[in-house]
Amino acid sequence: MAPEIELTTKKLGEIKDNCLVIAFFEDKLKPNDEINNFDKSINNIISNSIKNKDFKAEKNEIETFYLNNKNLKYLALLGLGKEKDFNLNKLMDTVSNLSKKLRNSDIKTFTLDLNSFKNKNFDHNTYLEKISQAAVLSMYQFNKFKTKDLDKIKSITKAAIIVDNKDLKKSQKIIDDAAIYTEAVNKTRDLINTPPNVATPVYVADYAQKTAKENNLKCTILDEKQIEKLGMGCIMAVAKGSVNKPRLVILEYNGNGSDKPIVLVGKGITFDTGGINVKPSSYMTTMKDDKAGACGVINILEACRKLKLKANVIGMAVLAENMVSDKAYKPDDVLTSHSGLTVEVTNTDAEGRLVLADALSYSLKYKPKAIIDIATLTGASIIALGYFASPVVGNDQKLIDQIKQASETSLEKIWQFPLWEEYSELIKSDIADVKHLNEGIDAGVMVGGIFLENFVEDIPWAHLDIGNTVWAKQEKGYTVKGATGFSVLLLLNLLRDWK
Ligand code: BES
Ligand code: MN
Ligand code: ZN
Repeated sequence: MAPEIELTTKKLGEIKDNCLVIAFFEDKLKPNDEINNFDKSINNIISNSIKNKDFKAEKNEIETFYLNNKNLKYLALLGLGKEKDFNLNKLMDTVSNLSKKLRNSDIKTFTLDLNSFKNKNFDHNTYLEKISQAAVLSMYQFNKFKTKDLDKIKSITKAAIIVDNKDLKKSQKIIDDAAIYTEAVNKTRDLINTPPNVATPVYVADYAQKTAKENNLKCTILDEKQIEKLGMGCIMAVAKGSVNKPRLVILEYNGNGSDKPIVLVGKGITFDTGGINVKPSSYMTTMKDDKAGACGVINILEACRKLKLKANVIGMAVLAENMVSDKAYKPDDVLTSHSGLTVEVTNTDAEGRLVLADALSYSLKYKPKAIIDIATLTGASIIALGYFASPVVGNDQKLIDQIKQASETSLEKIWQFPLWEEYSELIKSDIADVKHLNEGIDAGVMVGGIFLENFVEDIPWAHLDIGNTVWAKQEKGYTVKGATGFSVLLLLNLLRDWK
């Protein structure tokens, strides 16, 4: 269970909680008047531990003291490191590490002295937003499939943040919005983490339908017969090898009258075996995460409604399973896409761009002002950028610049790659209009992009390849092991701040 974030306007000496957290910069260890007053009431624990160098406020240093007083059980001093090195990533890291440490010590609720975190580089709203995001996202746990020792699971149920009375009203709005953002990320993580024997295309489509009902979104679900009838030969080919039939989900949020919509298209391969070009075992584990784009899009649409964004947004989730069987599509097949373009298949493991191709060209009927697809498209994204920043490509610099801007505030790093026309040489086919892949592994991210570009005509379009950021093998900051939910915060910022 994720913690509730609350605000309080109490003074330090009035706090009643399990734990009070006060932060310090390493190079600014002098307590202010309020902290000094409070310190006197607790036998100068703070000033003494600073004086004795028990607490130096190094980054991520946490000292907890058992106060055993009837209002307040523990005091935690938190180090923020040097003020000049401090940034929002470090803020989120320290709050995440703090939450984990307190949770491990079985402390279920705590109060943060927001003033003690502040410096002049970031404003009040930014502090509040990032602190509440970190406290919720870092506490994520996926326990749905566990049946044993559930009573041993530790969790933080509530974190309160102290703000001044004059800031109370605007602060409430900030934490309410932050809660919608973090809920979207954590629900996305839940859906991605759901195992592939449960989360089939139909399951994810049902999830989308339920989401739509609860949020008054228009929802259309195309089944395999309708997909076939619409001439989506690429989706049909990828899905052919599986008993779990494909679905194309379309959710519509109307928040801005008759304005043209922004379309988000998410890749939703509920499991990617590679197909006939089967993946080696070590590459196949975690391939339930190949539906991450679709999972994100569905939950983003819910958040659009909850945030009451002034925009029209259409979310498409293209759902199929890429299996090995006698029914499966093969390398050398030539497919006819929804756009009419014929596609020579070179490797059945490059299934993502095929299902996206049909969804992208179908999305044109909504006359979008922009299309963004989100897809775990390539392992090449890992080669290109490692595990913490995702590639973005597209046909419209203004759109990409907006995405970059959104990424700077969401703190999810992206990096633009080129779509030079030279790359299209790599996917010329001898027998069809286009191949979906080059031989060899050159320029994997760009080749994926240049193929997709064929299906968006001249609509501003960007492609976010989250193949490298979708999954975390290690905990870091607010990222826990498993599905990360990467790009959900970014896309919500983009839609909120759309220009
Ligand atoms: N879903 C994979 C991409 C992927 C790989 C995502 C690793 C996350 C981690 C995609 O469908 C795929 O298999 N891509 C191939 C393309 C190749 C055949 C050109 C890849 O990247 O290996
Ligand atoms: Mn694949
Ligand atoms: Zn895939």
